[in-house]
Amino acid sequence: MALFVVTTRLPSSALEMLRAAGELRAADVAGVLPRAELLELVAGADVVLTQLGDRVDDELLEAAGPGLRCVCNVAVGYDNVDLAAAARHGVAVTNTPGVLDDATADLAIALMLIATRRLGEGERLIRSGQPWHWSMEFMLGSGLRDKLLGVVGLGGIGSRVAERARAFGMRIAYNNRGVAPAAVTEPLGAERLELDELLARADVLTLHCPLTDETRHLIGAAQLAAMKPSATLVNTARGPVVDEAALVEALRSGEIAAAGLDVFEREPEVHPGLLELDNAVLVPHLGSATVETRTAMAELAARNAIAAANGEPLPTPVSS
Ligand code: DGY
Repeated sequence: MALFVVTTRLPSSALEMLRAAGELRAADVAGVLPRAELLELVAGADVVLTQLGDRVDDELLEAAGPGLRCVCNVAVGYDNVDLAAAARHGVAVTNTPGVLDDATADLAIALMLIATRRLGEGERLIRSGQPWHWSMEFMLGSGLRDKLLGVVGLGGIGSRVAERARAFGMRIAYNNRGVAPAAVTEPLGAERLELDELLARADVLTLHCPLTDETRHLIGAAQLAAMKPSATLVNTARGPVVDEAALVEALRSGEIAAAGLDVFEREPEVHPGLLELDNAVLVPHLGSATVETRTAMAELAARNAIAAANGEPLPTPVSS
């Protein structure tokens, strides 16, 4: 009977699927297990279901032992997994694409609206008890109609953000390494631009690329300087895609107007400079945080795990 090891608390429906298919060893923690406990937990596993805070590397793969067949990351991002190490150990890796596209796109749009309409600042003002009154010039933000949404990474999530932005009357441009399929770009009227041009023209730049060696600090001081002073940056991808220190400077100096951030470079730490800025909207990695989405993510990871244990084709492999 296959041993499934789960490193974090998961919705019960996913745990029931695993229990019905084999033996289950599940950590009862909401967050990341301390490393030593994680290494102990995975010993003897056939399949490990990990969360994005678990570092999956040679050490963990060795701690699991030679029976390990698959690591099922309960996230679409898998920058926590050393794919080369997994390949060396003959271990397949899966993720959870698709099921979190809508929830993450909703959050990106929420951040865009909060940042462009200065809602965080307004809410803080009310709660501070300071006097305020309506006036023609009071707390003006910027509108979205006819503005350009620049999408870095027009994939599952990026295209859902673009669809929503169209309903606000925005125009869409994107940058991917290659050209996105016409079936995606045509309904959006999305134009492919080189990153330099996208930076220079976007009124809102939204990041949806994975974190890789190529995308680490993709948005740094030079890229922020190339953006419009009226532009807003939204990041629901991974924190290290943006150089956070450079972003603090750009927001402080007015090089860009605002930022909406769901992810941080040294998560869960947040650059102290961001905390002082009214034009930074900060939320704690909530992109996929709905009951429905987290359930779907866990169930997809469980389907991958069961397929791996049975030697069947993996529903959503990253590598096999
Ligand atoms: C992911 O899946 O990669 C998100 O960051 C968390 O849902």
